[in-house]
Amino acid sequence: MKKTFNDLILSRQACREFNDVALSKETVLEILKQAKLAPSACNSQPWKMYAVTTPENIEKTAIALGVNGHNKFLSKAKAFIVLAEKKAVLKPGVTFDGHHFVKYDIGQISAYITLSAKSLGVDSCIIGMVDQNLIKDAVGLCDGEICNIAIALGYSDIPVRDKIRKTDDQVFTII
Ligand SMILES: Cc1cc2nc3c(=O)[nH]c(=O)nc-3n(C[C@H](O)[C@H](O)[C@H](O)COP(=O)(O)O)c2cc1C
Repeated sequence: MKKTFNDLILSRQACREFNDVALSKETVLEILKQAKLAPSACNSQPWKMYAVTTPENIEKTAIALGVNGHNKFLSKAKAFIVLAEKKAVLKPGVTFDGHHFVKYDIGQISAYITLSAKSLGVDSCIIGMVDQNLIKDAVGLCDGEICNIAIALGYSDIPVRDKIRKTDDQVFTII
């Protein structure tokens, strides 16, 4: 049965224990195609998604995201989507300087990736620890592209945890 949006946001959680079930390239492709529909400032789409699916490249990418011995669980990820930030290029005649929105745009596409994945039964973990030199080498970033976020993908047997979040009145006011 299809998950509702509420099911999705309650069941999506940072996965730090992937099991051995393989992730198909078709599933990764579906996630990529859904994620590219994410909104961005001026529709500039200042991103490139590098989908890492082979064992050799997964190993290199896991090392690039394991800064100072962190994120050891990544060696069991079954794929990564490495998000490269690009300079926002706008249509001719548009004078708006959208570059400062790039990080917000990357946040949008990250959310799309994790929720798209969960809708397909795939678990994920957003990773913000990135060794620039190692990731450039691991995925072959082009000149002008930098990576601050990657998303690990795979399947997990870990039960859904309760969400630990601030209280309603700490995070919203209705006026
Ligand atoms: C920008 C960003 C960077 C993150 N980096 C890491 C990371 O390097 N390692 C990790 O285990 N989790 C990382 N996380 C996951 C968060 O710790 C997690 O989303 C948060 O604790 C809330 O838990 P939940 O996702 O299970 O609801 C990151 C999340 C975001 C949004």
